[in-house]
Amino acid sequence: MSARPGAFALVAAVLGLAAGAAGQSPDLATGERVFRDNCAVCHGATGDGQGMAAHHFKTPPRDLTKGRFKFRSTASGQIPTDADLVRTIVHGIPSTGMVPQNHLSDAEVQAVIAFVKSLSPRFAAAQSPTVATIPTPPAATPEAIARGAKIYVKGECAECHGKEARGDGPSAKDLSVTPSDLTRRPLKSGATARDLVRTLLTGLDGTPMPSYYLVLEDGELWDLAYWLATRGGPPETTDDERAGWHVVQMHQRRGR
Ligand code: HEC
Ligand code: HEC
Repeated sequence: MSARPGAFALVAAVLGLAAGAAGQSPDLATGERVFRDNCAVCHGATGDGQGMAAHHFKTPPRDLTKGRFKFRSTASGQIPTDADLVRTIVHGIPSTGMVPQNHLSDAEVQAVIAFVKSLSPRFAAAQSPTVATIPTPPAATPEAIARGAKIYVKGECAECHGKEARGDGPSAKDLSVTPSDLTRRPLKSGATARDLVRTLLTGLDGTPMPSYYLVLEDGELWDLAYWLATRGGPPETTDDERAGWHVVQMHQRRGR
């Protein structure tokens, strides 16, 4: 499709990158308090991922001082938008210990985002991130889904995710982060065809999951996403998620 090079549009203005300017913003003090009360138990008071509950989780709480984010609407290697961070914090990351933090007010969410952004110099560096434009979806026909199964083979997804997409490909055991079982639900970054196209365009930074921007055609991305969307079983709760709820409840009961 001729629209390929435009798939990432420049959107510098939207991002309010300077929000974390060290020290003066009153938001930042609020943000630090919100973080200490709600996030530090897992992420650590300094955001280094070493909170006192961190050892409960198979997928560890993120070291937020590294400034690398898996769940973004932005191009591979770039910082997330504020909207991406709002989504992660308010909705949580399904199937992980990062359970929804939807008890926070909008102001608290904005403040804690300012604090998270202050933890890594990557945000202050203020390069202009680019947001992925999701290409127009073709019709989700049985033919498209059948083509998607072939693109899974052509794209060599099986190398990591396995022939049946169960996360057990030949390379899986050598990777620092275990490839997802793509037949399980929910998925961390969403399981609608649109979510899957976004994940394939952006990749998951800090993990072996690459970006397929300019690797697969727009139509191929959609066909593959349609096929993957049909592969999911009923939603399951993971041990990490149960541990996450437990940690949050204990923490709140203790009156912080
Ligand atoms: C019960 C534990 C727990 C609590 C509480 C928690 N998190 Fe997390 N958080 C996690 C885990 C585990 C991950 C890593 C998930 C993954 O890598 O798939 C994570 C990941 C993240 C990420 C990375 C998202 C990305 O795109 O890579 C951000 C940002 C984040 N948390 C912010 C917060 C904030 C802000 C709070 C408090 C309002 C918070 N978390 C509370 C466990 C927690
Ligand atoms: C080099 C190994 C590798 C290859 C090749 C690879 N992946 Fe991944 N993929 C991963 C890893 C590792 C994760 C898990 C990241 C995490 O949970 O932090 C992942 C995650 C994903 C997710 C997100 C799952 C969720 O919970 O949101 C999707 C969707 C996905 N891969 C699809 C694909 C498809 C389709 C292909 C082929 C076009 C592919 N991957 C190729 C390693 C790979």
